[in-house]
Amino acid sequence: MKMKKMMLPAAISAVTLALSASAMAATWKMATGDAAGGTQYELGTKFAELIEEKTDGDIKVNIFPNSQLGSEQDTVNNASMGMLDLSIVAINNITPFSPTVGVLTLPYVIQSAEDAKKLTQGEIGDQMTENTIRDAGVRILGWAYSGCRRLTNSVKPVATPEDLDGLVIRVPKNEIMIAAYQAWGVNPNPLAWSETFTALQQGVVDGQDNPYITIDAMKFYEVQDHVTDSCYVFSLEPLIMGEGQFQSLDPEMQQAVLDAGKEATEHSFEYLLETEADIKDKLVNEHGMTITEPANDEKEWIEQATQIWPDFYDSIGGKEKLDQALEALGREPAPSK
Ligand code: MLT
Repeated sequence: MKMKKMMLPAAISAVTLALSASAMAATWKMATGDAAGGTQYELGTKFAELIEEKTDGDIKVNIFPNSQLGSEQDTVNNASMGMLDLSIVAINNITPFSPTVGVLTLPYVIQSAEDAKKLTQGEIGDQMTENTIRDAGVRILGWAYSGCRRLTNSVKPVATPEDLDGLVIRVPKNEIMIAAYQAWGVNPNPLAWSETFTALQQGVVDGQDNPYITIDAMKFYEVQDHVTDSCYVFSLEPLIMGEGQFQSLDPEMQQAVLDAGKEATEHSFEYLLETEADIKDKLVNEHGMTITEPANDEKEWIEQATQIWPDFYDSIGGKEKLDQALEALGREPAPSK
């Protein structure tokens, strides 16, 4: 009898533990806009592996690539409303919800993977995380580094902004990127990422821009012949979670999520450095794309596109935000309005 009494609390606590473990165990859905095989997928699979390891298998992640769960902009909304656990989207598809992250999309601010790392993994990256929580209700947990966006088209080699004449170029629904093309003298066609391959295939648009790794993962070489080796925007692709969901996790779980995001980010950086050059070669040698160097070291492209910077000072939170980024990259302050 005495023994029975002593066993009761132990039995209850075993049941409680089992219940709380099963309440914690979950399979999270992660959306990616890109097909499997690109930088988004690499970040996502690494994060999935790490979070499963850090939670002893309590959290598993199922990845739904290729915009199966909606356009990238839809998934930002869905994550913010608690209808989706995780998503990886290009930063330009977060800017409409949180305009201050536009500083990372302004043309010719980020010029290399190292620049991208400096801006995302320091004070500026922390500010971006706070701002997207405040404005869009999503928390940035990590970053995919996807490389410079290269212009592709199905019609002709493009070396100068004048060569864009007559081409219909798809851009994301992002005001900064639309303005950059307008500065180069053309009116681009803003389209969701999920509609881009079909639009290229059907000739609704002639071209688009995205990094080499994305061009390969999305098989754009099947519908595009020419690449311009431009670097007007560096493609950063944050892994996001709805802030409501993050706050519902216990502190240990929150830490596991943050750590997994940080480690997966490091992995993404190494992945870009290790694979981009080979993928560029493959696009030329296996898939027959031709690469054109921008004329004059991209001088005219840069001069014309950077003229739009002052138009976005207000939306990014003031010229000082751009100056802070430029200073972190060892560059001169931006011109005044
Ligand atoms: C876009 O062009 O909308 C995005 O950069 C695509 C992507 O997420 O890779």
